[in-house]
Amino acid sequence: MPDNLADPTFHANPHPSYASWRREGPVRQVRLASGAVAWLITRYDDARHALADPRFSKTGGDDRHPSSAIDRALSRHMLAVDPPDHTRLRRLVTAAFTARRIEALRPRISAITESLIRQFPDDPFDLIDAFAFPLPIQVICELLGIPADDRDAFRAWSNIIVGGVAYQEQFPSAAAAMVGYIQGLLAARRAEPGDDLLSGLIGARDSGDSLTEDELISMVFLLLIAGHETTVNLIGNGMYLLLAQPERWQRLCADPGLIPTAIEEFLRYESPVETATFRITTEAVDIGGRTIPAQAPVLIGLLSANRDGDRFPGPDAVELDRAPNPHLAFGHGIHYCLGAPLARLEAQIAFTALTASCPDLWLAVDESELAWRPGLLLRGLFTLPVTPG
Ligand code: HEM
Repeated sequence: MPDNLADPTFHANPHPSYASWRREGPVRQVRLASGAVAWLITRYDDARHALADPRFSKTGGDDRHPSSAIDRALSRHMLAVDPPDHTRLRRLVTAAFTARRIEALRPRISAITESLIRQFPDDPFDLIDAFAFPLPIQVICELLGIPADDRDAFRAWSNIIVGGVAYQEQFPSAAAAMVGYIQGLLAARRAEPGDDLLSGLIGARDSGDSLTEDELISMVFLLLIAGHETTVNLIGNGMYLLLAQPERWQRLCADPGLIPTAIEEFLRYESPVETATFRITTEAVDIGGRTIPAQAPVLIGLLSANRDGDRFPGPDAVELDRAPNPHLAFGHGIHYCLGAPLARLEAQIAFTALTASCPDLWLAVDESELAWRPGLLLRGLFTLPVTPG
């Protein structure tokens, strides 16, 4: 009988289950909320190995192209394909996603951060809603050149799209709405190119190659989802870990030089992406003492790997100055997160501003009242109520 990952008690605190699975049966079958059964890899060494092993593929060797426009828009991006398609797509996007373009965002990220903090109310408020969510979405919209007025619509669509079975029925209409919106944006940018990433992606060329319309829609879709559903959890989970232990928060406020290592520790300890996206085995693979058969769906547990005591001394302690910290929170191998430098820059600016401007923040509820969002892909809190101090 596979372990049931849809069980709400698992979700409230998955760490004890992961710890016992790493000890007894680190590669195992689990039942997902959809009812499907998948293999789950829980140990660090196995996870790192699988992320770099081409036998754990995105397509299982099947390169059929879906016929509906919506399905294509969901499946023609780099995180859904294997080489050589992946190599080509990643190269074209990397050409537009330059270090210069990211670095140029620094003053804008700071300005958005400061403006959000200035709007904090004097009464208790939700730090996710007031800060952790709007910051990354404003940044990714700015990077792509998406008008501010359209951002609320994104929040609704993307919530449904990443929400898993909880939102199964609304998924087709939300995906269709988002694809239609992106098509409109691309048409507008084609007519009037700007200095934004969207224009850069339209114009990206590599040895005469460029992105097709489906690939462009799909890429923008991936960037929008990947660009904010994850960073909100890095900021939210990090602030939770700090405020749940006030002396930890005070220590960081007193010594902001710790922020870079603290961010890596938040990424490790409550990894924003709980499991990597599905892999499919192209052939039978021996790993962690088991044989996963060919064509089997596989989840690689990043959150679990990042708590593996064989890799991290004292894995269940938050060490703000932990170094080295070779966590897998951004993945590993060819699909290693393209947005990691942007996510780190946003987090650095966010934690620096919060420690400097709001050292008196306080958790407004008991830790036990905090609820984690459903789904196995992402790990993040619904709300983080705080008192301004
Ligand atoms: C891939 C995590 C922020 C864009 C990934 C993967 C992980 C990850 C684990 C690999 C998934 C897999 O192998 O199945 C994170 C975390 C973030 C973050 C924890 C924030 C804290 C961002 C941002 C962007 C972004 C801000 C873009 C603006 C991407 C893209 C890929 C990716 C495009 C696919 C790369 C490929 O397939 O080659 N991310 N991400 N991510 N991420 Fe991120």
